Amino acid sequence: MAQPRRVDQPGTDWSGARVLVRSDLNVPLDDGTITDDARIRATLPTLRYLLRNGAGVAVCSHLGRPKGERVPELSLAPCAQRLAELLVRPVELLDDSVGTEVRTAAESLRPGQVIMLENLRFHPGEEANDPSHADMLASGFTHYVNDAFGAAHRAHASTEAVARRLPSYAGLLLAREVEVMNGLLLDPGSPFVAILGGAKVSDKLPLIESLLNTCDRILIGGAMCFTFLAALGDPVGRSKHEGKEAQAMARSLLEAAGRVNCALQLPVDILCANRFEAGAELSVYSSDSLPDHLLGVDIGPRTAASFREAIDAAATVFWNGPMGAFEIPPFADGTRAVADAMAGADAVTVVGGGDSGAAVAEFGLADRFSHVSTGGGAALEMLEGKTLPGVAAITAS
Ligand code: 3PG
Repeated sequence: MAQPRRVDQPGTDWSGARVLVRSDLNVPLDDGTITDDARIRATLPTLRYLLRNGAGVAVCSHLGRPKGERVPELSLAPCAQRLAELLVRPVELLDDSVGTEVRTAAESLRPGQVIMLENLRFHPGEEANDPSHADMLASGFTHYVNDAFGAAHRAHASTEAVARRLPSYAGLLLAREVEVMNGLLLDPGSPFVAILGGAKVSDKLPLIESLLNTCDRILIGGAMCFTFLAALGDPVGRSKHEGKEAQAMARSLLEAAGRVNCALQLPVDILCANRFEAGAELSVYSSDSLPDHLLGVDIGPRTAASFREAIDAAATVFWNGPMGAFEIPPFADGTRAVADAMAGADAVTVVGGGDSGAAVAEFGLADRFSHVSTGGGAALEMLEGKTLPGVAAITAS
């Protein structure tokens, strides 16, 4: 399989280069304050590599979904400030991502200098992957580096079209993410166990179909387990679950798992609550006998123990989606049990970004995994077997 050219490819001379670096600085903000800077930290190795090797760098990113409008609350100012602290050097934020001021700044970038362009999505041409917008983005730069794995499933001007206008490279983060996901797709150590949670079977259908071909066992938790249980005719009480169509999908996944000899394992017990809030009354029920008046909020302790056993026996573990509503502390035990088991496992352990990535960070376990992806949607699309436009563009160039 063709791999993108990496920034650290031997023989590449960065001295005097003026590099446009696409990072994914789409960080969570609370009233203008960054609540998790993991994505900014994750792009530091690439920026440091370029700076150490004599390049000047303009970092660009989207933040949120301003849909082509200038939304002041979605300015990258907090990210520029945080990046300056982490790099311990000034990072000037320009007022725009294209135009005369940006072109002039790009043309006069000096070795070791870092600037940041304003939110790319303030222009409609970004999400439209507009060729003339990509021409403007590229102007003044000598090279393009894509380190934004989290946005690589988007064919936008800054992830796709611009790569066709400049000599293009994969940043160290993007290269590592692609390598890890390709390893899971093409050559996972066996037994390979996937743990999937989240709300909807319908959202995860292509992922589960793909994983059935490579996994030995798939453990299902999160609200999506209630769609599977309902599909089997079990009562699910007031638990969040999907209707007939998704239940039919769930049944066909169970049948397909049987055909390919992949164990698709559902919870045997469920933590139930009378209300969806921290002070609720809690009780554990066998998964085939949930009472009508209660709702499932987490996997139960017997399920957590059997999931732990499967993780302990695995050589490769991939996890996406919390096991319960972990943001409410009394409903977090199942998610924590999976995170703990993976953190202690003698296996390749990969977390697929999104809410499970946030859970691992919240439990303080991130550095005990082989890899915690910075991309939610991008990681899942890769594991579905799709080609990511952002990766294809730098591979072809
Ligand atoms: C993400 O947070 O998943 C990425 O930054 C992509 O953001 P998007 O879904 O708004 O394209």
